[in-house]
Amino acid sequence: MALDATCGQGYDSVFLASLGLRKLFIFDIQKKALEITKSKLENCSIELSFFELCHSKIDTVIPKESLKLIVYNLGYLPGSDKQIKTVPKTTLESVQTALDLLQPGGAISITCYPGHEEGALEENALVAFSKSLASSSWNVCYHQFLNRKAAPSLLLIQKHSS
Ligand SMILES: C[S@@+](CC[C@H](N)C(=O)[O-])C[C@H]1O[C@@H](n2cnc3c(N)ncnc32)[C@H](O)[C@@H]1O
Repeated sequence: MALDATCGQGYDSVFLASLGLRKLFIFDIQKKALEITKSKLENCSIELSFFELCHSKIDTVIPKESLKLIVYNLGYLPGSDKQIKTVPKTTLESVQTALDLLQPGGAISITCYPGHEEGALEENALVAFSKSLASSSWNVCYHQFLNRKAAPSLLLIQKHSS
């Protein structure tokens, strides 16, 4: 099973649904994002569960150690109200919670947008938290273009297999 923690326009959900997993959990705080995503997955054959809910609440519906892959694509819904966006406090809460929902060997992918002020704070908080994870249990990688100013970055957190 997999989780799209910020479904937005549904591109990540479409990718996750193509991986051949049994079920996909889909979260967003905006009904519009869930509707766009649902329409892109109309012909999808795997089980889908949609939640119009903050991703800090993922543990209220997803069992522990059940997910193979969790995807966060932070920020706001393109073409929509930019004030409705992910914020450091609940994003960090969600990622902390997500660790317990991962299967051994599972991974979390987080795309951050440090090009705006709150996005930079959010990325800093996530990087600081990720650095604190014990290397005996977690692999943590950080990728960013070095030759582009304030480029998006990618944080990958993988739980060891055993
Ligand atoms: C950059 S978009 C995601 C892009 C998307 N994954 C795609 O493939 O198109 C960020 C989304 O995060 C959602 N969001 C903001 N705060 C959230 C929260 N606390 N919990 C869940 N989703 C949230 C926004 O409504 C927005 O749709």
